[in-house]
Amino acid sequence: MVPYFPVGGPVPAADLVGRESYLRRLVERLEDGQHVLVAGPRRIGKTSIILEALRRLRRRGAYTAYVDCLGATAIRGLGERIADAILQNLSGVERSFEHARAIAAGMRPTVKVKYEHVELALQLARESSAQRFFEGALDLPQALARKTGKRVVVVFDEFQAAGRLGPRVFDVMRTHVQAHRGTSYAFLGSEQGILEELFSAKGHAFYRFAVPLDLADAGGHRFGIDPDDWLEYLRQKFAAKKMAIDDASVDRLLDATGGHPQDTMQVCAALYYLMRDTGSRSVSAELLEVAYEQAMRELERPFALHWAELGSHKYLQQVAKRIAHKAVLYAADAEGDPVPRPEVLRALAALAERGLAVKLGRGRYEFVEPMFGEYVRRLDEASLVGAIVPAR
Ligand SMILES: Nc1ncnc2c1ncn2[C@@H]1O[C@H](COP(=O)(O)OP(=O)(O)OP(=O)(O)O)[C@@H](O)[C@H]1O
Ligand SMILES: [Mg+2]
Repeated sequence: MVPYFPVGGPVPAADLVGRESYLRRLVERLEDGQHVLVAGPRRIGKTSIILEALRRLRRRGAYTAYVDCLGATAIRGLGERIADAILQNLSGVERSFEHARAIAAGMRPTVKVKYEHVELALQLARESSAQRFFEGALDLPQALARKTGKRVVVVFDEFQAAGRLGPRVFDVMRTHVQAHRGTSYAFLGSEQGILEELFSAKGHAFYRFAVPLDLADAGGHRFGIDPDDWLEYLRQKFAAKKMAIDDASVDRLLDATGGHPQDTMQVCAALYYLMRDTGSRSVSAELLEVAYEQAMRELERPFALHWAELGSHKYLQQVAKRIAHKAVLYAADAEGDPVPRPEVLRALAALAERGLAVKLGRGRYEFVEPMFGEYVRRLDEASLVGAIVPAR
């Protein structure tokens, strides 16, 4: 069952706040046969948007394939994911490639999976070389488009992860997909730095292959979502449960979360269940505060992961703390040792590349997610408490 405010993972269309015009652009481009790049920070709704775009494209008669590159550990595995996603259009069954393999090995087709559902992939199912298998899978979208005369739209989510499967994976992919007709590709990912280089630096595999559709800043709004859309959505969503949220509370909420999609939904979920449990009918500053603290606890895991990752570089955590405390970025450290300026600059660039921090002006940075900034500030308080309270 989907919780009343869905959190963590793609949301249904009804809970996709403020993305209508972006979606329309996205669908139009893909329908026209253009390739698009949707890169942006973590948990801002990339997957939710593309899945809704695919639903709309299917309603308009296109075939679609959604391939998550994260979790594939070898090119064969990635190839199987592509084959599964393509065959599903014909069979309506997930993991249809297994059936293709069985049928290729001599098994009889079943009532559920017929010969013509998997015919496209029978030759592929007999392929023993991983490299040829992968390349064959890359050509399946084109084969489906040819066979049916329909447009085939393929999504590669967390695309940057495909690059880890081998040194020439991106080159091989580009060589195949650029020769296709009747197909369009959408590339999604959260490692913005890697993707931007791959798609916009000369000499890189996907140079100028796809149109970047900026999501984080669409329409000039933070995270690309108009605050008025939040207001309308939240009013209706609470009203449907006979609860009320006033403009001032929505402002306060969006102030606290910066309008970051998942952080905002996380606070709303906590708020809704808190109100339900306490029988409250309208949102108050106190309820909001309690809900914020609850959401903060729930976000601790993803935040702790970000934080741990920053620990792998010498000055990242230190510079991150300075951003969180709005401290002078280039000052000496607590022991009075200077932090070399180039190191600070490098750390700032690395934080920006990870989609964690943004530059506001000369020497002024802030966290993309205010709640992550709050998490970082509280780390100090926690260690302070640890320092004062003697360990037993
Ligand atoms: N437009 C939106 N309206 C409301 N909530 C949203 C929206 N976009 C994202 N969210 C919230 O963010 C969560 C994550 O969404 P989704 O998985 O689509 O993001 P993502 O950018 O693909 O994340 P990841 O970086 O983890 O892949 C959702 O479960 C939901 O709580
Ligand atoms: Mg995603």
